[in-house]
Amino acid sequence: MDLRKIAFDNDNNDTIKSFKSRFVNNLNEIYLDGNSLGKLPKKTQDDLDILIKKQWGNELISSWNNHWLELHNEINSKMSNLINSNKEEVLVGESTSVNLYKIIYALLESNKYEKNLVTDTMNFPSDLYILDSLKNLTNNKLITILKYNSSKCCDIDLLKKSFKDNPGIYCLSLVTYKSSYLYPMKELNEVAENNGSIIVWDCSHAIGVTEIDVKRSETKVALGCTYKFLNGGPGSPSFLYVSSEILKKINNPIKGWFGHKNPFDFDKNYIPAENINKFKAGTPQILSLLPVRNGLDLALEAGISNIRKKSVDLGNYLSDLIEKELTEFDVVIASPKDSSSRGSHITIQHDEAWRICKILIEGNKNRKKIIPDFRPENNIRLGFSPLYISFIDLYETVITIKDILKNKEYLKIDDSKPNVT
Ligand SMILES: Cc1ncc(COP(=O)(O)O)c(C=O)c1O
Repeated sequence: MDLRKIAFDNDNNDTIKSFKSRFVNNLNEIYLDGNSLGKLPKKTQDDLDILIKKQWGNELISSWNNHWLELHNEINSKMSNLINSNKEEVLVGESTSVNLYKIIYALLESNKYEKNLVTDTMNFPSDLYILDSLKNLTNNKLITILKYNSSKCCDIDLLKKSFKDNPGIYCLSLVTYKSSYLYPMKELNEVAENNGSIIVWDCSHAIGVTEIDVKRSETKVALGCTYKFLNGGPGSPSFLYVSSEILKKINNPIKGWFGHKNPFDFDKNYIPAENINKFKAGTPQILSLLPVRNGLDLALEAGISNIRKKSVDLGNYLSDLIEKELTEFDVVIASPKDSSSRGSHITIQHDEAWRICKILIEGNKNRKKIIPDFRPENNIRLGFSPLYISFIDLYETVITIKDILKNKEYLKIDDSKPNVT
């Protein structure tokens, strides 16, 4: 099996390969960190230029009426197309952490569910902190964090049992940030519903790269970052989806003017909007919102099922390559083998993970720079964003890691770390 040839063949047959040219690409660099911060779409540069120079620079306040209020609606509507929700159920604004706080608070206050907060150890730390900050509103003033035997996968039976024994409000990351485990969303939503529970899905590592159909999966609440696979840029706002059935029963704890039914009436009394707009608080962050439009346009144009298909093919190819080339050097795959339970990154572990990352990022005159990311203690995450990563990129990455390991290059460098890894 010639894996290099397979890479070339797969790239030739790739139906969405042309999308790479729509991004700014550095020469001699393989970017495997689209699961943290996606690349810059070329059109976003022009759009931001117009927004800053023309709309803000010249047209100033009139841009709210002429461009920006509509821009927000337009982006929300594209997001609803991506996840197959109704238009009144989704908005893009504020960070994932802030939206998570608002929605969990609102669900606890609604008295619709048992006041139990449950998550698992695979969830992202910020989610755990947010839940912890709300524990005083729960029955037992604590949160439950499920721990499974494996750090790669969820123990589905244990989770299902927990819905029965401890119904309440669950928060799970649809694709886990470390191991890339992808939960069976529809199946778990059903078990939750049948046991008087609700799952708040953090889709940060899934949106833009896996098929999320909130209607088909009967999802009640979902949210997540747009700066990863949706290429919205650093700190772009998160999306928040709440089904209309749930929306009717909950209120935003932050009663800001933009969540008012008619913000520009400047009414002294707060009357919340009837749709998802009630979860707005302050002025939309137009500068960081605008790039989300292109991110969504690219994903919608490529088609989320095509993106997911390529992601699965890339993942299977990468997994085979790692097994063939790297396991003899004590590299362990810390992501699920089965593609139906895996998102769009694969994590590998090695005792020298950090120094290997440093060497990859540095590159040299004979070798491309390769940008993965490092997660303590010993994880290297290889994120493959199907819109701009090719099979040959993955081949070159694994062969480079093999060279580094074979020659023990890591022994020649120090292991100091910057703030962001
Ligand atoms: C799974 C997950 N949830 C939440 C967050 C936090 O998002 P934000 O910075 O928008 O609050 C991140 C950030 O990387 C994440 O990966």
